[in-house]
Amino acid sequence: MSEQAQVTGVVTTRPLSDALGAEVRGVDLRNLSAEQNQKILDAWHENLVVLIRNQTLSEEDQVRFGKLFGGGALSSGHIPALERVEGLVYVTNVKQPDRPDGILPDGEMQFHSDQCYRDHPSKGTMLYAIEIPSEGGNTLFANTYKSYEALPEAVKQKIEGLRALNVYDYGVNPTRCGQPNADAPSHVHPVVRTHPVTRRKSLFVNRLMTARIEGMPKEESDALLDYLFAYQERPEFIYSHRWQVGDVLIWDNRCALHARTDFDSKQRRVMRRITLPAEAVE
Ligand SMILES: [Fe+2]
Repeated sequence: MSEQAQVTGVVTTRPLSDALGAEVRGVDLRNLSAEQNQKILDAWHENLVVLIRNQTLSEEDQVRFGKLFGGGALSSGHIPALERVEGLVYVTNVKQPDRPDGILPDGEMQFHSDQCYRDHPSKGTMLYAIEIPSEGGNTLFANTYKSYEALPEAVKQKIEGLRALNVYDYGVNPTRCGQPNADAPSHVHPVVRTHPVTRRKSLFVNRLMTARIEGMPKEESDALLDYLFAYQERPEFIYSHRWQVGDVLIWDNRCALHARTDFDSKQRRVMRRITLPAEAVE
């Protein structure tokens, strides 16, 4: 990884790891020029994850920034009742009686792509760190362009054209526990998808939500998925983000997976999330 920052006008970018990610410096997200906005978008498409540190954003500021990623209305999908502001929810382990829009428990969460169980999944997700635990609670990101590209040629040929069922059922790990709950939201997507902007192929399965390969005997499907999950999670494809208060981080759900490490549930963790617009998978 080059330690030298790449100067692009008044905005600079710095790689976060060999796997993926770039930090964009020299911007205030409350007041972006069209040129700065385009640089952030370009950095996002090139690096999959963009980090902007030391920001102070109101809910409205964050929504306004989220809309700069284009593509229509912001929506978290399955929990619209929690949204007081378009597309915005709190991801927190802190119970707040005056603010019922907090979601997700504490603890570890396996690798996944947000909304992969929907017909049109969200293209990306943004988190803004308001309170963080003193240790743990990192977010891991896996580059699924790289894991696809590094697969042995025979495996690439084997998975070409295959489709997999993705299920939202956090209570059950579908690949470990047999049949997922029939009521759980689910959708079949290609195992290898093509990014609509970069046109690069990526591996669109994940350990948390992908239940099975369509049309394949269960044992064979489980073995293939186990292989692909382990491949995606190789250390060389992963960046671990250690949060700071004021971090704004946007990831691309089309070519990156994310996971959360465990943290002390007695410590407060408050993040504000924007879910970027949904789009079709190709
Ligand atoms: Fe997620």
